[in-house]
Amino acid sequence: MSGCSLAGRHVVISAGPTYEDLDPVRFLGNRSSGKMGFAIAAAAAARGARVSLIAGPVTLPTPAAGTGSLHRIDVRSAAQMHAAVIGALPADVYIGAAAVADYTPARVAEEKIKKGSGSEGLTLQLVRTRDILAELAGHPRRPELVVGFAAETEDVERYARGKLAAKRLDLIAANRVGVAGSGFESDDNALVIYGADLALPLGPASKHELAGQLLDLICQRLSVAATGTGSAR
Ligand code: CTP
Repeated sequence: MSGCSLAGRHVVISAGPTYEDLDPVRFLGNRSSGKMGFAIAAAAAARGARVSLIAGPVTLPTPAAGTGSLHRIDVRSAAQMHAAVIGALPADVYIGAAAVADYTPARVAEEKIKKGSGSEGLTLQLVRTRDILAELAGHPRRPELVVGFAAETEDVERYARGKLAAKRLDLIAANRVGVAGSGFESDDNALVIYGADLALPLGPASKHELAGQLLDLICQRLSVAATGTGSAR
């Protein structure tokens, strides 16, 4: 794959859904396939980066290491993804492509939850998870570039720009979900990349093409003076 060089750069990418366990047989999950995050990981490795790919439960093969390297860490829950992302620091770039659960059950039942006699409904108590992306953006070892994703069903620009500002991100890649030819399970997607001074539409194109275009933008925005943290470890 052609494109800019990310040699010597450490790029951490989260991908896929998280599963939040309710009991030994049930969980709360979402429709993320991990395809976009895996495509970004492949494209970054092909550009020579040292890639740490933090993957939720997906059925995708590990991308090739390209001219760089690729270390895949499989996780299940939002809490495990948080620990793995923080554990991967320091990094030059963090790309949060994962669809991280916003809520997790307050308790995981040790035994399978039974219907019980006469019970017509079940109320689950959920608690907020930690926002990995926002924490990284405010972390003492903040990567030089922190890039988020925003999957929205409506009002895409307003919500995406809101997250860009609230989470103190450098860039956010927004896409509309719930329409044909884009979103979670599709091989294709259409993104708009927002930055403080930027609104760049990309696609519709394959997730592999979009990954390359996003990385070209990231290369341009990385400081040329920095040597990166990738070669130091
Ligand atoms: N994200 C994260 N940790 C969370 C929730 C979200 O790191 N606990 C990241 C995702 O990886 C993504 C971005 O935040 O890069 C946006 O996720 P999204 O679910 O669209 O936004 P939320 O902030 O959760 O807001 P809402 O669900 O209200 O739209």
